[in-house]
Amino acid sequence: MEAFSVEHEFDFTDKHFAKIRAFVTAHTGIVLPDTKKDMVYGRLSKHIRQRHQGSFDSFCEAIDNADAEEQDCLINAITTNLTAFFREKHHFDFLKNTVLPELLIKNKQTKRIRIWSAGCSTGEEPYSIAICLYDFFRDKPDWDVKVLASDLDANVVKQGESAVYEAIRVKSLSENELKSWFERGTGKNDGLYRIKSPIRSLITFKRLNLLHEWPVSGPFDVIFCRNVVIYFDKATQSVLFSRFAEKMSSKAYLLIGHSESLFNVSDQFEPLGHTVYQRKES
Ligand SMILES: C[S@@+](CC[C@H](N)C(=O)[O-])C[C@H]1O[C@@H](n2cnc3c(N)ncnc32)[C@H](O)[C@@H]1O
Repeated sequence: MEAFSVEHEFDFTDKHFAKIRAFVTAHTGIVLPDTKKDMVYGRLSKHIRQRHQGSFDSFCEAIDNADAEEQDCLINAITTNLTAFFREKHHFDFLKNTVLPELLIKNKQTKRIRIWSAGCSTGEEPYSIAICLYDFFRDKPDWDVKVLASDLDANVVKQGESAVYEAIRVKSLSENELKSWFERGTGKNDGLYRIKSPIRSLITFKRLNLLHEWPVSGPFDVIFCRNVVIYFDKATQSVLFSRFAEKMSSKAYLLIGHSESLFNVSDQFEPLGHTVYQRKES
């Protein structure tokens, strides 16, 4: 059957795509196969119209000239930020019912717990973690409990930090949950929900590229890195998970996305099933 070719308003050649693809892989780890060419065009076309008078040549030149604003714009356009509160709920049940009770005993000397949401997108994942921590440690004020939330995309980090969500983003939560964890906006903020301050205060947001240096201390008791490495090649995944292992305490937990696996990627973690892994004893 004859293939359909999509009509483009602006000239977008294989050479443009190759340049953009090479930059994206080098800077984010995300590998863009040929089939993503139209997706890349679609995500960039508004920017090309507004900032480059419709010229991908001009955009590629800016990328070559290390124009930081243009490079950020490209990274932000390509990353996929889909997320939700309590997405893959079984991980949060595991956190509440197994991990936190275990840590209460394991860390009883230090009374310190560190959890990293690596690739946190707009914040729903780290806030879901913080809500579990808040509920669990509410009557244990002497515990030092913190969540690090990081992402490469500056826009989503800013959104996460604001802790403000539109009604559609919280529609999966019950009225009771909304009341317990959110403040409702009034007046010009009508229809908006903001995470309550004691929950917000458990999280530090940071812009961080997982491929670069990590100015983070750890050791972490749990790392959530879910639906992030799905577009990375195996070699990049291997390096990343080995670096995670270095930042984790012995027998700490690693939670990955539903379509991800450490099979043939890392042997430093024990698979416990349902995309839950445990760092082997060092
Ligand atoms: C689909 S979202 C996943 C959000 C959340 N973890 C979840 O599962 O709901 C993937 C996130 O990974 C981030 N990301 C992709 N490559 C990254 C990298 N090299 N360093 C840090 N974050 C990255 C993207 O910006 C995006 O926000």
